[in-house]
Amino acid sequence: MQQPLINNRFVERFNLSTPIALAPMALATGGELAAACARAGALSLVGGGYGDLDWTRREYSDAINRLEGNQEGLLRLGCGFISWKLAEDQSALDWLLDQQPKPAAVMLSFGDPTAIAKILSDHQIPVICQIQTMAQLPQAIDAGATVIVAQGTEAGGHGMNELDGRSTFTFVPEIADWLAAHSPQTILLAAGGIADGRGLAAAMTLGADGALIGSRLWATTQSLAPARAKSSALQANGDATARSSIFDILRSKNWPKQFDFRAIRNQIHREWEGRIEELRANPKAAIEDYLGGVGQEDYDRAHITVGQDVGLINDISSAEDVIDHISRDAARLLSGGVSGK
Ligand SMILES: Cc1cc2nc3c(=O)[nH]c(=O)nc-3n(C[C@H](O)[C@H](O)[C@H](O)COP(=O)(O)O)c2cc1C
Repeated sequence: MQQPLINNRFVERFNLSTPIALAPMALATGGELAAACARAGALSLVGGGYGDLDWTRREYSDAINRLEGNQEGLLRLGCGFISWKLAEDQSALDWLLDQQPKPAAVMLSFGDPTAIAKILSDHQIPVICQIQTMAQLPQAIDAGATVIVAQGTEAGGHGMNELDGRSTFTFVPEIADWLAAHSPQTILLAAGGIADGRGLAAAMTLGADGALIGSRLWATTQSLAPARAKSSALQANGDATARSSIFDILRSKNWPKQFDFRAIRNQIHREWEGRIEELRANPKAAIEDYLGGVGQEDYDRAHITVGQDVGLINDISSAEDVIDHISRDAARLLSGGVSGK
């Protein structure tokens, strides 16, 4: 195995060569991206998302096939699910539990992890809980989380709504302090806004053992996001995204109220800002408009899911290059050097 540039308990626990985890991005983290990141030394979580059995089976199996003969890579492969959705349909998780080798970890986000975490622990599969508030932390620890992911509201995709959400910069050190006092063996990852070596080094300086990265790895050649969405995202700076439940209503997703969704604040989003209850009450025409946009890859109407760090993304390269670049720059910064960005 290649010598890790940054070595710590997260890297050692999961046999990684860098303290990076690939976020399980629904419909974007498929087998190709997960396999590439595992080969590059990161913990790689397939985007099991809403727990669609066919999708999860296809993409997870694809990652396994692509990693054939690469034992280290295979042992870095896991999956992530949306907890409240798994409570409705657990079939994708049940399928995953039977896979060999066992998943390196399963990440649970958005909802009470207790019941599913117990099933995973009974199968000796490490549990990662992504949380958004201090209030969720004791529950995740009691559920047996090996890893906590502290997700700030900068993050792309779902997260805590604007009333309750926390920014990564204050949330990570507060969790680090709580864990040091109450559960020092628990590994901590930061998520939300980490797209380069500066972000990874900052997260680790704030007390994290590493970073869970979504948007930056979404913008790679291997993610399943449409090529036109990726190239549109490159035009955006960090002012261009917003959080709201607008795209959840347009996608007919029944998300619990406390969570909303960050994506590019495009034309259809702006149309409904300040009128969300009106949209919720009568969404039919807007849903048709939105679905038309999806069909035509018209990103004034279809959504592009990225976080505030979209302003730090300037190219669509391979996931291997992105991980290598972030790792080298963070290592340089953490040993007192200056960033080459
Ligand atoms: C396209 C996209 C899809 C996502 N889907 C999921 C998901 O299905 N489950 C989940 O737990 N988190 C999901 N997330 C959030 C990530 O887990 C992570 O918190 C986030 O990407 C970190 O912030 P960043 O995007 O700034 O790196 C998604 C993020 C993105 C960008």
